[in-house]
Amino acid sequence: MDFNNTAAMDYITARLGSEGSPMLAFGGDYNPEQWPEETWEEDVRLMREAGVNLVSVGIFSWSLVEPAEGVYEFGWLDRVLDLLDANGIRVDLANATASPPPWFSHKYPQSLPVTADGVRHSYGSRQAFAASSSDYRRAAAALTEQIASRYKDHPAVVMWHVHNEYGCHNQPDYSDGAAAGFRSWLEDRYGTIEALNDAWGTAFWSQRYTAWEEILPPRTSGTWVNPTQQLDFARYSSDELLECYKAEAAIIRFHSPHPVTTNFMGFNMGLHQPVDYWRWAEQMDVVSNDHYLIAEDTRKFQELAATADLTRGWANGKPWLLMEHSTSAVNWQPRNIAKAPGEMLRNALQHVARGADGALFFQWRASRAGAEKFHSGMLPHAGTDTKVWREVVQLGQALRSLAEVSGSVVTGASGRVDVAIIHDTGARWASELDSHPSVDASNVAETRRWHDAFYRAGIPTDFRQSTDDLSGYRLVVAPMQYLVTDSGAANLDAYVRAGGHLVVTYFSGIVDENDHIRLGSYPGAFSGLLGVQMEEFFPLRAGESVELSRFGDGSFWSELGQPTTAEVLAEAVGGPVTGSPAVTRNAAGDGRAYYVATSLAPEGMAALLALLCEDAGVEPLLQNLPEDVEVARRSKEGTDWTFVINHSSERVQLPISGLELIGGEDLGGALELAAGSVAVVRSPRSPSEAQ
Ligand code: GAL
Repeated sequence: MDFNNTAAMDYITARLGSEGSPMLAFGGDYNPEQWPEETWEEDVRLMREAGVNLVSVGIFSWSLVEPAEGVYEFGWLDRVLDLLDANGIRVDLANATASPPPWFSHKYPQSLPVTADGVRHSYGSRQAFAASSSDYRRAAAALTEQIASRYKDHPAVVMWHVHNEYGCHNQPDYSDGAAAGFRSWLEDRYGTIEALNDAWGTAFWSQRYTAWEEILPPRTSGTWVNPTQQLDFARYSSDELLECYKAEAAIIRFHSPHPVTTNFMGFNMGLHQPVDYWRWAEQMDVVSNDHYLIAEDTRKFQELAATADLTRGWANGKPWLLMEHSTSAVNWQPRNIAKAPGEMLRNALQHVARGADGALFFQWRASRAGAEKFHSGMLPHAGTDTKVWREVVQLGQALRSLAEVSGSVVTGASGRVDVAIIHDTGARWASELDSHPSVDASNVAETRRWHDAFYRAGIPTDFRQSTDDLSGYRLVVAPMQYLVTDSGAANLDAYVRAGGHLVVTYFSGIVDENDHIRLGSYPGAFSGLLGVQMEEFFPLRAGESVELSRFGDGSFWSELGQPTTAEVLAEAVGGPVTGSPAVTRNAAGDGRAYYVATSLAPEGMAALLALLCEDAGVEPLLQNLPEDVEVARRSKEGTDWTFVINHSSERVQLPISGLELIGGEDLGGALELAAGSVAVVRSPRSPSEAQ
């Protein structure tokens, strides 16, 4: 079925209620194969008690369903699916290709991935395969064929879960298979070795290639490997894995009309982003994402909000599915801090507030054995007389009371989201390459700072790519758009000239898609649009700041230069760049383009945001939002649902009226929200706000 992200989530939510009325999804990964069959009856009884309506089954079951090559044993899976169906619990069925069994890796050792240092991974964990391996692809296709054809008509199944978190543990792969795949990908991209030499700038350091066979993945070398080679290898590696997904999804789609997804990993904060999710999202019927808090992040709830917004961007603004999060602690951080009472409900409803049509967890029952036995589950080791279980039941109730929200879209004060943040994967990848002016110049961190500023102000933001249609947005921010393609730069330019408001930050527009410097003054592609000529970067020392004439101090970065046509809103005061523009505004066509040549602290950012929003006509959902209180809105057919999430330790009062759905209380114009609580208020959209 060709859902193209529009109707697929509705297809699923419509199948979760008993009478066909849509329900938000609630449940998690269910791994019954880890437990004796006697446990299954208790599982489904407790799932019913909690209101679980969707579970992901079979994700890591390859070694059980195919115990020997071409020998399939489905008896246990038949019984599990039948039991779930008998209890009205729907299934997101995996094709089980995420973890090849030991017999497979033992028989086909060349299928194992290889690190940049030439170390071949062993098996014994998971995802032990190289995307380029034809043995892996053949085996994965055969398994998918078996599962899809066997369960295509099973009444419990409503969606398909291909693989699991592609690229989490085996990316990039530098094996000989990857080398061959990379060469053929490069031949398709460049056609001739001369074109490749030009794109890779191989005149530098005597890297000129004379034949395709000479080209290798960017394996460990004496010092920095050619940056364009690294960038192309990231692109190739994403495409190679995507081929695996597409092949498996095609088999499933041949057999079954249910939506197909694979679970994404959000920003993958602090780690390499293994695949380009914008390109992958085009292949999903439903975009689904896994999110885990970084427990020691002081603004972890804002990081969650940014990730949820980014996921909605990949879903093109349509509802998406939270495939995994945790009820409490995870097992993979240095200190796995448990969630405070009430935190799980806040987290789950933050995702729903930002467009998720459901909240699923990893996993249903906390494991007894294996590497994840200290990871929380919906049903903890300590059983049901526990904080976690009581909160799971409470969340199930809350999600049932919010069923009417399903299918709605996220909106802002004007009736649509007015602000977009640009987040191109290529810009992120290229900005993370070696030997740049400062290790503190981070595309993801700067993106998060800008998202945080809007978050604190109660202004919803979408994430978009530089090449997307931006005409519906009043304000667009491009944080550290280090790499911008010609078409991305032209699109942003046209957006401004047609009346838009664009903010560009430091270290943007610097290189083209081959990571070659755009010559002339910085910020390269945007210098004319912004009306500034910057000539030299002055990154700051650790802990150092640059004083500005307005908007507080700047961190990490400063620049020497001058305005051409731009109005200077703030300049550097003191230090080597004194007098250089730090924040500027330039009229271009019918719009305005702003440059921010340093990284502003939250107070300065808030002051700048007020100016930008005034210029662009952007309003918050609520004025004067108290500190650490989150607001978001979803809307459908003349109705708004305003989500208010109190992450603070203070009771707050907000001027909101309507019916609060979780507690079922009619608000007489004011919402009183206790510390740590969540409210979802339904109200009719006032005609003046309707678009
Ligand atoms: C995810 C993965 C799950 C589980 C979880 C633990 O990355 O998809 O299978 O490992 O992490 O947090």
